[in-house]
Amino acid sequence: MNAAAPVAAGDPVVEIEKLWTVFESPDGDQVVHRDLDLSIRQGEVLSLVGGSGTGKTVLLRQILGLEQPDKGKVTVLGRPPGHLGAGGAANVGMLFQHGALFSAFNVLDNIAFPLRELKLLPDALIRDAALVKLQMVGLEAQHALRSPADLSGGMIKRVALARALIMDPPLLLLDEPTAGLDPESADGFCDLLRSLHRELGLTVVMVTHDLDTLFELSTRIAVLADQRVIVAGEAREVIAYPHPFIHEYFSGGRGQRAMAALHEHPER
Ligand SMILES: Nc1ncnc2c1ncn2[C@@H]1O[C@H](COP(=O)(O)OP(=O)(O)O)[C@@H](O)[C@H]1O
Ligand SMILES: [Mg+2]
Repeated sequence: MNAAAPVAAGDPVVEIEKLWTVFESPDGDQVVHRDLDLSIRQGEVLSLVGGSGTGKTVLLRQILGLEQPDKGKVTVLGRPPGHLGAGGAANVGMLFQHGALFSAFNVLDNIAFPLRELKLLPDALIRDAALVKLQMVGLEAQHALRSPADLSGGMIKRVALARALIMDPPLLLLDEPTAGLDPESADGFCDLLRSLHRELGLTVVMVTHDLDTLFELSTRIAVLADQRVIVAGEAREVIAYPHPFIHEYFSGGRGQRAMAALHEHPER
């Protein structure tokens, strides 16, 4: 199996061209994506925003290769989604929105699960790899044997993130990573994502409704409306784009506060 060619900063990691997604329903076909284009480059943290039901999660699942678009093209590192990298490892890790852990497994076995499924490595190595990831997400070895039922919401997200990273994928997909966390845990998780992005050189695609997370982490924002990406760019550019959804989304108290934060950190 050929390893994917190395990618340099700025090279495309995900390319989506003229993508259509149509679901059949009793009241006629529902077009979720219509001629959607989006290109994501190495090293970006691209945030996808859009109203509820606009097809953000479906798009992540298509990048992961779990769902096929009805028309159009998706490539990840130049290949169809779901294509495996060196040694059969997944090229894409995903933190699912309801990133449920397996309740019957302890923390370490949850993190190790994708590697065990691969059936390539001896168990002692797999355990070591899972322990490294456990520490990478800010948990301690003493948490390894805990049951998911005994973890806080923030810890569950961290374990799910460690599981998403177990194969060292170059691309990480996050579906509403801070939803449901209290503000302090959300801040902590955001800090963790920022340092992992930097240290691991990851490319990240994130769906989020949380404006703080959005402005803290994104290098670029893509807005999903009218069945396509209407604008993708830096925060300033996106906020200035004339569209009713954007106006509504970024106006109001939360939007104003987030924009003020943006002025305090003009490098973002
Ligand atoms: N497997 C499916 N079958 C039928 N409809 C679906 C399916 N998956 C998603 N949808 C519909 O597609 C739309 C987009 O879903 P989703 O991507 O989950 O939205 P969101 O942007 O909130 O993440 C929704 O209207 C949803 O009901
Ligand atoms: Mg969703």
